Amino acid sequence: IPNDFEKMLSAHELLTKFYHHLLINTKEGQEALEYLFTRGFTKELIEKFEIGWSLPHWDFATRFLQKRGFSAQLMEKAGLSIRSEKDEGYFDRFRGRIMFPLHDSKGKVVAFSARSLNNEQPKYLNSPETPLFNKSELLYNFHRARPLVRKDQQFILLEGFADVITADQAGVHNAIATMGTSLTDRHVQAIKRVTDQVIICYDGDSAGIQASFRAATLLSEQGLKLRIAALPDKLDPDDYIKLNGAEKFKNEIIGASLTFMAFKMLYYRQNKNLQDEGDKLQYIEEILVEISKLRNAVERDHYLRLLADEFSLSLEALKFEQKQIYFAEK
Ligand code: CTP
Ligand code: MN
Ligand code: MN
Ligand code: MN
Ligand code: MN
Repeated sequence: IPNDFEKMLSAHELLTKFYHHLLINTKEGQEALEYLFTRGFTKELIEKFEIGWSLPHWDFATRFLQKRGFSAQLMEKAGLSIRSEKDEGYFDRFRGRIMFPLHDSKGKVVAFSARSLNNEQPKYLNSPETPLFNKSELLYNFHRARPLVRKDQQFILLEGFADVITADQAGVHNAIATMGTSLTDRHVQAIKRVTDQVIICYDGDSAGIQASFRAATLLSEQGLKLRIAALPDKLDPDDYIKLNGAEKFKNEIIGASLTFMAFKMLYYRQNKNLQDEGDKLQYIEEILVEISKLRNAVERDHYLRLLADEFSLSLEALKFEQKQIYFAEK
Protein backbone atom coordinates (compact mmCIF):
# COMPACT_ATOMS: atom_id res chain seq x y z
CA ILE A 1 0.00 0.00 0.00
CA PRO A 2 1.48 3.34 -1.01
CA ASN A 3 2.10 5.81 1.79
CA ASP A 4 1.11 9.49 1.67
CA PHE A 5 4.46 10.50 0.26
CA GLU A 6 4.18 8.03 -2.61
CA LYS A 7 0.58 9.08 -3.25
CA MET A 8 1.61 12.72 -3.50
CA LEU A 9 4.27 11.73 -6.03
CA SER A 10 1.81 9.75 -8.14
CA ALA A 11 -0.65 12.62 -8.09
CA HIS A 12 2.04 14.86 -9.57
CA GLU A 13 2.93 12.28 -12.16
CA LEU A 14 -0.69 11.82 -13.18
CA LEU A 15 -1.35 15.55 -13.34
CA THR A 16 1.78 16.18 -15.39
CA LYS A 17 0.48 13.80 -18.06
CA PHE A 18 -3.04 15.18 -17.84
CA TYR A 19 -1.97 18.86 -18.12
CA HIS A 20 0.30 17.95 -21.02
CA HIS A 21 -2.53 16.16 -22.78
CA LEU A 22 -4.82 19.17 -22.29
CA LEU A 23 -2.22 21.46 -23.84
CA ILE A 24 -1.34 19.28 -26.80
CA ASN A 25 -4.57 17.57 -27.75
CA THR A 26 -7.53 19.68 -26.70
CA LYS A 27 -9.32 22.80 -27.82
CA GLU A 28 -9.07 24.16 -24.28
CA GLY A 29 -5.29 24.14 -24.57
CA GLN A 30 -5.11 25.75 -27.98
CA GLU A 31 -4.56 29.36 -26.96
CA ALA A 32 -1.75 28.39 -24.61
CA LEU A 33 -0.19 26.16 -27.24
CA GLU A 34 -0.24 29.00 -29.74
CA TYR A 35 1.33 31.30 -27.18
CA LEU A 36 4.16 28.80 -26.71
CA PHE A 37 4.63 28.39 -30.47
CA THR A 38 4.73 32.17 -30.82
CA ARG A 39 7.51 32.24 -28.25
CA GLY A 40 9.39 29.74 -30.37
CA PHE A 41 8.89 26.62 -28.28
CA THR A 42 8.62 23.68 -30.63
CA LYS A 43 6.40 20.65 -30.17
CA GLU A 44 9.47 18.53 -29.32
CA LEU A 45 10.56 20.95 -26.62
CA ILE A 46 7.07 21.07 -25.14
CA GLU A 47 7.13 17.28 -25.03
CA LYS A 48 10.64 17.00 -23.64
CA PHE A 49 9.90 19.43 -20.80
CA GLU A 50 6.38 18.02 -20.32
CA ILE A 51 4.77 21.44 -20.42
CA GLY A 52 1.02 21.50 -19.87
CA TRP A 53 -2.12 23.55 -19.43
CA SER A 54 -4.43 23.70 -16.40
CA LEU A 55 -8.08 24.34 -17.12
CA PRO A 56 -9.52 27.60 -15.80
CA HIS A 57 -12.18 25.65 -13.85
CA TRP A 58 -12.66 25.85 -10.11
CA ASP A 59 -11.86 22.28 -9.08
CA PHE A 60 -11.15 20.23 -12.18
CA ALA A 61 -7.82 18.78 -11.06
CA THR A 62 -9.05 18.16 -7.51
CA ARG A 63 -12.00 16.14 -8.85
CA PHE A 64 -9.83 14.38 -11.42
CA LEU A 65 -7.59 13.21 -8.58
CA GLN A 66 -10.45 12.38 -6.21
CA LYS A 67 -11.96 10.09 -8.84
CA ARG A 68 -8.66 8.24 -8.85
CA GLY A 69 -8.61 7.76 -5.11
CA PHE A 70 -6.56 10.77 -3.97
CA SER A 71 -8.23 12.52 -1.06
CA ALA A 72 -8.59 16.29 -1.26
CA GLN A 73 -6.98 16.64 2.18
CA LEU A 74 -3.86 14.90 0.93
CA MET A 75 -3.87 16.93 -2.27
CA GLU A 76 -3.94 20.06 -0.14
CA LYS A 77 -0.83 18.80 1.64
CA ALA A 78 0.75 18.22 -1.77
CA GLY A 79 0.10 21.86 -2.69
CA LEU A 80 -2.27 20.97 -5.52
CA SER A 81 -5.60 21.84 -3.89
CA ILE A 82 -6.65 24.66 -1.61
CA ARG A 83 -9.33 24.42 1.04
CA SER A 84 -12.07 26.98 0.64
CA GLU A 85 -12.66 29.11 3.76
CA LYS A 86 -16.35 29.50 2.97
CA ASP A 87 -17.77 26.07 2.31
CA GLU A 88 -14.90 23.78 3.34
CA GLY A 89 -14.72 22.41 -0.18
CA TYR A 90 -11.47 22.22 -2.11
CA PHE A 91 -10.43 23.99 -5.28
CA ASP A 92 -7.42 23.82 -7.60
CA ARG A 93 -4.36 25.90 -6.87
CA PHE A 94 -3.49 26.05 -10.58
CA ARG A 95 -6.20 27.30 -12.92
CA GLY A 96 -5.86 28.56 -16.47
CA ARG A 97 -2.07 28.57 -16.51
CA ILE A 98 0.81 27.03 -18.45
CA MET A 99 2.20 24.26 -16.30
CA PHE A 100 5.90 23.54 -15.85
CA PRO A 101 6.51 20.36 -13.88
CA LEU A 102 9.44 20.61 -11.45
CA HIS A 103 11.48 17.46 -10.95
CA ASP A 104 13.65 16.52 -8.01
CA SER A 105 17.19 15.25 -8.55
CA LYS A 106 15.87 11.72 -9.15
CA GLY A 107 13.55 12.92 -11.88
CA LYS A 108 10.26 12.71 -9.96
CA VAL A 109 7.79 15.55 -10.40
CA VAL A 110 7.45 17.15 -6.96
CA ALA A 111 5.85 20.51 -7.75
CA PHE A 112 4.60 22.81 -10.49
CA SER A 113 5.26 26.33 -11.56
CA ALA A 114 2.40 27.86 -13.50
CA ARG A 115 2.76 30.79 -15.88
CA SER A 116 -0.08 33.19 -16.59
CA LEU A 117 -1.02 33.71 -20.22
CA ASN A 118 -2.12 37.33 -20.20
CA ASN A 119 0.21 39.05 -17.78
CA GLU A 120 -1.92 38.36 -14.72
CA GLN A 121 0.11 38.55 -11.54
CA PRO A 122 1.97 36.67 -10.35
CA LYS A 123 3.63 35.79 -13.65
CA TYR A 124 4.65 32.45 -12.18
CA LEU A 125 2.65 30.78 -9.46
CA ASN A 126 4.57 28.04 -7.68
CA SER A 127 3.64 25.10 -5.50
CA PRO A 128 4.07 26.00 -1.84
CA GLU A 129 6.61 24.28 0.39
CA THR A 130 5.40 20.71 0.86
CA PRO A 131 6.88 17.45 2.12
CA LEU A 132 7.95 16.94 -1.52
CA PHE A 133 9.16 20.38 -2.50
CA ASN A 134 11.56 22.95 -1.18
CA LYS A 135 12.23 25.89 -3.48
CA SER A 136 15.59 26.69 -1.93
CA GLU A 137 16.85 23.23 -2.82
CA LEU A 138 15.42 22.46 -6.24
CA LEU A 139 17.27 23.33 -9.41
CA TYR A 140 15.20 23.27 -12.58
CA ASN A 141 16.46 20.70 -15.13
CA PHE A 142 19.04 19.29 -12.70
CA HIS A 143 17.94 15.69 -13.27
CA ARG A 144 18.46 16.04 -17.05
CA ALA A 145 21.67 18.05 -16.93
CA ARG A 146 23.43 16.08 -14.20
CA PRO A 147 24.25 12.92 -16.16
CA LEU A 148 25.74 15.09 -18.93
CA VAL A 149 28.16 16.96 -16.69
CA ARG A 150 31.43 15.26 -15.81
CA LYS A 151 33.72 16.30 -12.97
CA ASP A 152 35.79 18.59 -15.17
CA GLN A 153 32.81 20.23 -16.85
CA GLN A 154 30.41 22.95 -15.85
CA PHE A 155 26.79 23.62 -15.21
CA ILE A 156 25.38 26.77 -16.76
CA LEU A 157 23.29 28.47 -14.10
CA LEU A 158 20.30 30.45 -15.41
CA GLU A 159 17.32 32.19 -13.82
CA GLY A 160 14.26 30.69 -15.37
CA PHE A 161 12.36 27.97 -17.19
CA ALA A 162 12.22 29.64 -20.58
CA ASP A 163 15.97 30.27 -20.39
CA VAL A 164 16.74 26.59 -19.75
CA ILE A 165 14.36 25.37 -22.44
CA THR A 166 15.63 27.74 -25.11
CA ALA A 167 19.24 26.99 -24.14
CA ASP A 168 18.46 23.30 -24.56
CA GLN A 169 17.14 23.96 -28.04
CA ALA A 170 20.32 25.91 -28.77
CA GLY A 171 22.32 22.79 -27.92
CA VAL A 172 23.27 23.84 -24.39
CA HIS A 173 22.06 20.84 -22.42
CA ASN A 174 23.94 21.50 -19.18
CA ALA A 175 21.77 24.44 -18.09
CA ILE A 176 20.00 24.50 -14.74
CA ALA A 177 17.97 27.27 -13.10
CA THR A 178 17.38 28.61 -9.64
CA MET A 179 13.82 29.70 -10.54
CA GLY A 180 14.29 33.32 -9.64
CA THR A 181 17.44 34.75 -8.37
CA SER A 182 18.58 33.52 -5.01
CA LEU A 183 21.08 30.73 -5.04
CA THR A 184 21.22 29.01 -1.66
CA ASP A 185 23.75 26.86 0.20
CA ARG A 186 21.59 23.84 -0.54
CA HIS A 187 21.68 24.52 -4.29
CA VAL A 188 25.45 24.78 -4.04
CA GLN A 189 25.69 21.47 -2.19
CA ALA A 190 23.69 19.77 -4.95
CA ILE A 191 25.97 21.26 -7.62
CA LYS A 192 29.12 20.31 -5.70
CA ARG A 193 28.19 16.65 -5.71
CA VAL A 194 28.54 16.72 -9.50
CA THR A 195 31.22 19.27 -10.35
CA ASP A 196 33.06 22.27 -8.96
CA GLN A 197 32.56 24.43 -12.05
CA VAL A 198 29.71 26.80 -12.80
CA ILE A 199 29.07 29.50 -15.37
CA ILE A 200 26.48 31.98 -14.12
CA CYS A 201 24.35 33.47 -16.87
CA TYR A 202 21.60 35.44 -15.17
CA ASP A 203 19.36 38.05 -16.77
CA GLY A 204 21.06 41.23 -17.95
CA ASP A 205 18.73 43.50 -15.95
CA SER A 206 19.83 45.08 -12.69
CA ALA A 207 18.16 42.36 -10.59
CA GLY A 208 20.08 39.74 -12.56
CA ILE A 209 23.38 41.59 -12.24
CA GLN A 210 22.93 41.94 -8.46
CA ALA A 211 21.99 38.27 -8.26
CA SER A 212 25.06 37.25 -10.28
CA PHE A 213 27.22 39.05 -7.77
CA ARG A 214 25.58 37.30 -4.83
CA ALA A 215 25.62 33.88 -6.48
CA ALA A 216 29.27 34.26 -7.46
CA THR A 217 30.18 35.28 -3.92
CA LEU A 218 28.42 32.23 -2.51
CA LEU A 219 29.96 29.86 -5.05
CA SER A 220 33.47 31.16 -4.47
CA GLU A 221 33.04 31.00 -0.68
CA GLN A 222 32.09 27.36 -1.14
CA GLY A 223 35.24 26.75 -3.12
CA LEU A 224 33.76 26.39 -6.57
CA LYS A 225 35.32 27.67 -9.76
CA LEU A 226 33.02 30.09 -11.47
CA ARG A 227 32.73 32.39 -14.41
CA ILE A 228 30.07 34.92 -15.24
CA ALA A 229 28.52 35.30 -18.68
CA ALA A 230 27.05 38.78 -18.90
CA LEU A 231 24.14 39.54 -21.22
CA PRO A 232 23.74 42.94 -22.89
CA ASP A 233 20.73 45.25 -23.02
CA LYS A 234 18.76 43.76 -20.12
CA LEU A 235 18.15 40.59 -22.13
CA ASP A 236 17.77 37.17 -20.57
CA PRO A 237 19.25 34.04 -22.19
CA ASP A 238 15.92 33.18 -23.81
CA ASP A 239 15.59 36.68 -25.32
CA TYR A 240 19.21 36.72 -26.40
CA ILE A 241 19.11 33.37 -28.18
CA LYS A 242 15.88 34.26 -29.95
CA LEU A 243 17.33 37.57 -31.08
CA ASN A 244 20.88 36.53 -31.94
CA GLY A 245 20.85 32.77 -32.41
CA ALA A 246 22.45 29.79 -30.73
CA GLU A 247 25.95 30.23 -32.13
CA LYS A 248 26.29 33.80 -30.88
CA PHE A 249 25.06 32.73 -27.47
CA LYS A 250 27.58 29.92 -27.27
CA ASN A 251 30.53 31.87 -28.68
CA GLU A 252 30.00 35.45 -27.59
CA ILE A 253 28.22 35.00 -24.28
CA ILE A 254 29.10 31.63 -22.76
CA GLY A 255 32.43 31.46 -24.56
CA ALA A 256 33.33 34.98 -23.48
CA SER A 257 32.39 34.51 -19.83
CA LEU A 258 34.33 36.59 -17.32
CA THR A 259 36.28 35.75 -14.21
CA PHE A 260 34.66 37.04 -11.03
CA MET A 261 37.26 39.81 -10.83
CA ALA A 262 36.69 40.93 -14.41
CA PHE A 263 32.96 40.97 -13.67
CA LYS A 264 33.56 43.05 -10.54
CA MET A 265 35.48 45.56 -12.63
CA LEU A 266 32.46 45.96 -14.89
CA TYR A 267 30.09 45.93 -11.95
CA TYR A 268 31.76 48.75 -10.00
CA ARG A 269 31.99 50.80 -13.19
CA GLN A 270 28.19 50.90 -13.54
CA ASN A 271 26.70 54.32 -12.85
CA LYS A 272 30.13 55.90 -12.59
CA ASN A 273 31.80 58.46 -14.78
CA LEU A 274 35.45 57.48 -14.69
CA GLN A 275 36.41 60.88 -16.12
CA ASP A 276 35.16 62.32 -12.87
CA GLU A 277 37.89 62.56 -10.21
CA GLY A 278 35.69 61.43 -7.30
CA ASP A 279 34.10 58.52 -9.18
CA LYS A 280 37.50 57.41 -10.39
CA LEU A 281 39.05 57.37 -6.93
CA GLN A 282 36.03 55.52 -5.55
CA TYR A 283 36.29 52.93 -8.31
CA ILE A 284 40.01 52.39 -7.66
CA GLU A 285 39.34 52.00 -3.94
CA GLU A 286 36.58 49.44 -4.59
CA ILE A 287 38.81 47.40 -6.86
CA LEU A 288 41.70 47.54 -4.38
CA VAL A 289 39.34 46.17 -1.72
CA GLU A 290 38.48 43.30 -4.06
CA ILE A 291 42.14 42.70 -4.93
CA SER A 292 42.91 42.50 -1.20
CA LYS A 293 40.54 39.55 -0.94
CA LEU A 294 42.56 37.51 -3.44
CA ARG A 295 44.78 34.94 -1.81
CA ASN A 296 46.99 34.39 -4.81
CA ALA A 297 49.88 36.88 -5.07
CA VAL A 298 50.22 36.42 -8.83
CA GLU A 299 46.55 37.25 -9.31
CA ARG A 300 46.87 40.31 -7.07
CA ASP A 301 49.84 41.48 -9.08
CA HIS A 302 47.99 40.92 -12.35
CA TYR A 303 45.02 43.06 -11.37
CA LEU A 304 47.16 45.76 -9.78
CA ARG A 305 49.00 46.07 -13.08
CA LEU A 306 45.71 46.32 -14.97
CA LEU A 307 44.62 49.15 -12.69
CA ALA A 308 47.98 50.88 -12.94
CA ASP A 309 47.86 50.73 -16.74
CA GLU A 310 44.29 51.87 -17.09
CA PHE A 311 44.64 54.91 -14.84
CA SER A 312 48.33 55.63 -15.45
CA LEU A 313 49.20 55.16 -11.81
CA SER A 314 52.42 53.84 -10.34
CA LEU A 315 52.32 50.19 -9.43
CA GLU A 316 54.15 50.99 -6.18
CA ALA A 317 51.47 53.41 -5.00
CA LEU A 318 48.71 50.90 -5.77
CA LYS A 319 50.57 48.09 -4.02
CA PHE A 320 51.13 50.28 -0.99
CA GLU A 321 47.47 51.27 -0.83
CA GLN A 322 46.30 47.69 -1.33
CA LYS A 323 48.45 46.53 1.60
CA GLN A 324 47.00 49.30 3.78
CA ILE A 325 43.51 48.04 2.95
CA TYR A 326 44.53 44.44 3.56
CA PHE A 327 45.89 45.21 7.03
CA ALA A 328 43.03 47.55 7.89
CA GLU A 329 40.57 44.72 7.17
CA LYS A 330 42.48 42.18 9.24
N1 CTP B 1 9.81 33.33 -10.86
C1 CTP B 1 8.95 32.87 -9.89
N2 CTP B 1 7.86 33.62 -9.50
C2 CTP B 1 7.62 34.83 -10.07
C3 CTP B 1 8.51 35.33 -11.05
C4 CTP B 1 9.60 34.55 -11.42
O1 CTP B 1 9.13 31.76 -9.38
N3 CTP B 1 6.56 35.53 -9.70
C5 CTP B 1 10.94 32.49 -11.26
C6 CTP B 1 10.60 31.63 -12.47
O2 CTP B 1 11.29 30.41 -12.32
C7 CTP B 1 11.17 32.42 -13.61
C8 CTP B 1 12.42 32.99 -12.99
O3 CTP B 1 12.03 33.29 -11.66
O4 CTP B 1 11.45 31.59 -14.73
C9 CTP B 1 12.99 34.22 -13.65
O5 CTP B 1 12.04 35.28 -13.59
P1 CTP B 1 11.86 36.30 -14.78
O6 CTP B 1 13.18 36.65 -15.37
O7 CTP B 1 11.00 37.40 -14.29
O8 CTP B 1 10.96 35.46 -15.77
P2 CTP B 1 11.36 34.71 -17.13
O9 CTP B 1 11.95 33.38 -16.79
O10 CTP B 1 12.13 35.61 -18.02
O11 CTP B 1 9.89 34.44 -17.68
P3 CTP B 1 9.28 34.70 -19.13
O12 CTP B 1 10.37 34.63 -20.13
O13 CTP B 1 8.28 33.60 -19.26
O14 CTP B 1 8.61 36.03 -19.07
MN1 MN C 1 21.57 18.63 -28.95
MN1 MN D 1 14.74 38.00 -14.30
MN1 MN E 1 14.05 36.47 -17.36
MN1 MN F 1 12.29 35.58 -20.18
